[in-house]
Amino acid sequence: MADPDHKPGDARAHGETIARILASDAQPAPAPLTAEAYRFLGDTDLPASRYTCQAFFQQELSSMWSRCWQWACREEHLPEVGDHYVYDIGPYSVIVARIARDEIKAFINSCTHRGTRLLGEEGAGHGQGFSCPFHGWSWHLDGALKEVPGRWDFPHVCEASHSLQPVACESWQGFIFINLDPDASPLREQLDVLPNHFAHFPLDQRRIRLHVQKVLPANWKAAQEAFMEAYHNFTTHDSPTGANAQYDIFGPHVSRFIHNIAHYSPESLSDYPGEKWRAPPLTEQELLAGLPVTQRPLTEGETARAAGAQLLRDEMGSQLGVDFSAASDSEMLDSIEYHLFPNAFFFPGMLISMAYRFRPLGDDVDSCLFEILMLEPLAEGAKHPDPPEPVLLSADQSYTEIKELAWLGAVYDQDTGNLQLQQQGLKTTRKGVTLGNYQEARIRRFHLTLDDYLSRADCE
Ligand code: FES
Ligand SMILES: [Fe+2]
Repeated sequence: MADPDHKPGDARAHGETIARILASDAQPAPAPLTAEAYRFLGDTDLPASRYTCQAFFQQELSSMWSRCWQWACREEHLPEVGDHYVYDIGPYSVIVARIARDEIKAFINSCTHRGTRLLGEEGAGHGQGFSCPFHGWSWHLDGALKEVPGRWDFPHVCEASHSLQPVACESWQGFIFINLDPDASPLREQLDVLPNHFAHFPLDQRRIRLHVQKVLPANWKAAQEAFMEAYHNFTTHDSPTGANAQYDIFGPHVSRFIHNIAHYSPESLSDYPGEKWRAPPLTEQELLAGLPVTQRPLTEGETARAAGAQLLRDEMGSQLGVDFSAASDSEMLDSIEYHLFPNAFFFPGMLISMAYRFRPLGDDVDSCLFEILMLEPLAEGAKHPDPPEPVLLSADQSYTEIKELAWLGAVYDQDTGNLQLQQQGLKTTRKGVTLGNYQEARIRRFHLTLDDYLSRADCE
């Protein structure tokens, strides 16, 4: 039903806004967190076939995945010269290698003789060069052709023509990105506001504490979209938080939500059916009890956010050997989630410090790989420890089996529990996918950018 009081996209949940909450925090938020950037991008349905059609999936591979920057691994996967990391995306495979102390390069993972894949499974390895298991051609660590057995038969082969095929490769905040497009624009163009915003939250000073991989029974876009909005919190998580989350769109490639922790706005729940949402508001003491900090009685007028943020500064600070005294309440507490097109999420907060990645697997339109990297701030001057091996969960395993995920394990089970039903429903529906104008605006921005890639390819 059209709302006569608002232009499309202008309506918001009742109650406190994130901007007002951040403005009243005891330790104020830095400029990136007070920035607001939303604009209405349309309200037409998305065709369901975008999630189910093999032809559309193939178009994504040939026109988007082969032309955009994507996070392949972390620098800590390649600490020594000779370390390499194999990154697979759909049918494509790339080797990222540290060829010198301060130089990382990437190559197509394919022999320049007759095409054989050079390195097997995705993941980290080490060697002083590369060789092909078929006829034994070999290359130096920097990709230059080294040896061709039976050289007499290949007078037409030389270093210039048959070195490993280079792939564009750049680093940002400890994440190594590759781009399969030989004419790729610089990574910074795709990063939009991220370098500016994350100057406040340097992710290269965090280490991977836990890396979890799971195959999900859904198209990669549907899976990541389950993490782009908090609108599902009421039903999927049976939680009243997130009604007043803030959604920002900073450019074609970057969007964000900020979802308050340790704040409760009962007015924001007035639109949600059911008596339970109309229960008396939680007290500040009850809100503090929801945080993983040593509990203490709050003094008169003290808020759970202020007390909780300070307890986190003290307790996480002494546990990790990190000085959090300059970190705002919002950074310490909130779920702050940036999305970088096409498939990466970065959380700069301290309580919720992580990165996600969603990728198609091979050429299957109906499944994807979801990865969670729990990141942990490093003590000043500390070296990155070796990254942990990924923990791989099978499709029917529960995230709660991973003890280090703590309370998040059950949340991930809830988040991913709908996906198979959604993928099945998308195949049988007669209509498209409908999006909320505000809470699901990041999903719309994502699809518009995807369309940009697909249409650019159509013109060529
Ligand atoms: S295919 Fe690699 S050496 Fe022949
Ligand atoms: Fe969720």
